[in-house]
Amino acid sequence: MISFHEVHKNYSIFDRDVHALRGVTTDIARGDLTFILGVSGSGKSTLLHLAGALDRPTAGRVEFDGRDLTTLDPIERAHLRRKRIGFVFQSGNLLPQLTALDNVLIARIPSGISSSDRQRARDLLKRVGLEDRIHHRPRQLSGGEAQRVAFARAFLGQPEVVLADEPTGELDTESGQQLMTMLGELRAEEGTTVVIVTHDLSLPGPGHRILSLSDGKILSDERIGENGPTPSPKIATARPLSSEEFQT
Ligand SMILES: Nc1ncnc2c1ncn2[C@@H]1O[C@H](COP(=O)(O)OP(=O)(O)OP(=O)(O)O)[C@@H](O)[C@H]1O
Ligand SMILES: [Mg+2]
Repeated sequence: MISFHEVHKNYSIFDRDVHALRGVTTDIARGDLTFILGVSGSGKSTLLHLAGALDRPTAGRVEFDGRDLTTLDPIERAHLRRKRIGFVFQSGNLLPQLTALDNVLIARIPSGISSSDRQRARDLLKRVGLEDRIHHRPRQLSGGEAQRVAFARAFLGQPEVVLADEPTGELDTESGQQLMTMLGELRAEEGTTVVIVTHDLSLPGPGHRILSLSDGKILSDERIGENGPTPSPKIATARPLSSEEFQT
């Protein structure tokens, strides 16, 4: 579903080049649960940003369902992200002035929020145990609750893939585990492909893959147990996008 072909990413800063990725080739298959591990600076976030079309490689190719992401213009990439990808970051990135419900709905604001969006947002907040916190603002939520809002937001548009960058990084062990359990359940219910940068491998599920990065390269790639949940109808009927669907 997402393929990396000899992907390099350099950042130039003060005339110095940082080689964040140095020739990464791998495939993330539909329905997979992939953990990305590696020490700080090994390129994990860079890899996730490229997978989510948030950034472009310096060399090599990243494909989403066979479509080379480097050929998409910024508007097409934004469209792809909005329609097919959900993101969760280390600190939820919730807007402080909006309620939990409006934070979940934020991606819908430009196009107009339908009553079914609103219902799905409420259902998701309920699903992550926040039915009593729907009208709370981020500062009125605990760190774990704020991250649960971030998960509900990521799943709102029924994305095919959710990319999470250390979502439990700022939480205590117990809230981190609760969040991981929730992610495992949401993933199984919705048939979502999940790629997660984390040191917490406790996400429940029949199987997973661990991709370790070191200094911008893949150090190891391990599959553990049966892979992924039983494919949901959404996975079974998944097909490559037509070029019209890539347009806005
Ligand atoms: N925007 C940027 N400009 C310059 N250098 C960057 C930029 N983003 C990342 N880097 C550098 O690229 C390398 C890889 O960074 P990346 O954020 O992918 O690491 P990481 O594995 O996610 O680390 P951490 O576990 O600390 O989040 C690091 O050396 C970092 O300093
Ligand atoms: Mg990082």
